[in-house]
Amino acid sequence: MTAVPSPRARQGPGAPPIRLGINIDHVATLRNARGGRHPDPLRAATLAVEAGANNITAHLREDRRHITDDDIARLIAAELAPLNLEMAATPEMLAIALKAMPHAACLVPEKRTERTTEGGLDILGQHNLLAPVVSQLVDAGIHVSLFIAAELCQIETAARLRAPAIEIHVGAWCDALAEGRARDAEAEWRLICDGARAAHELGLEVHAGHGLNYATAETIAALPELVELNIGHFLVGEAIFVGLAESVRRMRAAMDKGRQTLRHSDTEIRVGGGT
Ligand code: PXP
Repeated sequence: MTAVPSPRARQGPGAPPIRLGINIDHVATLRNARGGRHPDPLRAATLAVEAGANNITAHLREDRRHITDDDIARLIAAELAPLNLEMAATPEMLAIALKAMPHAACLVPEKRTERTTEGGLDILGQHNLLAPVVSQLVDAGIHVSLFIAAELCQIETAARLRAPAIEIHVGAWCDALAEGRARDAEAEWRLICDGARAAHELGLEVHAGHGLNYATAETIAALPELVELNIGHFLVGEAIFVGLAESVRRMRAAMDKGRQTLRHSDTEIRVGGGT
């Protein structure tokens, strides 16, 4: 068990529940391992929504290693729940998003050589490249979020870019906890708390994602500024053991429990290293 500092309650017990966006990329990873249509990400999305997920998140990568264009088309047509399209800020992806018109788009960094999205988008360094992409998506009515580290300079740039939302990359915090690096975990947690507060004060909607499990989702759900968590790999992995619907139900319960700790603003929250 690793102790981490608690968030201070800044809104009181009436804060709304956090949305759960299930990332179904790795259902597609499994399907693609054999080709064909099984397991179908659309079926997974349907089950997840029935079990309590609010949004569907899918990352259409340049190399189409998991989600395909056809998956996106079928997810849009099925209208199961709002679709959050994760995408790199490239002309190809921008054209696809403007044609598909998902509810939301999360701009992420992308490298062909990475196994997963390794860090946040450097929106400060790429401001000029991102500005027209953000504005075209926003003008089209798509709810844009920027996947960034919880650094003040990045958060301020997100506000300058007039993106309505950010998603904080919490992978470093999750990794530090999983590896028992308590000091690193505390430092990362402090960055997340401060970043969420700063973003909220700048008028940005705050989401979080990457590497979350039941325990870390419960902890982070206590941050009153957060309105959405996007979670994939852990839920799909858990589905092997308990089924997808049950893993989503457990995640929903963990998040709801975490949100209740808003009432206990100055008590310490404890996070287990396991699932
Ligand atoms: N949010 C974003 C922007 C991501 O890129 C990812 C990983 O694809 C996730 C959330 C989900 O991360 P994980 O699969 O580790 O739960």
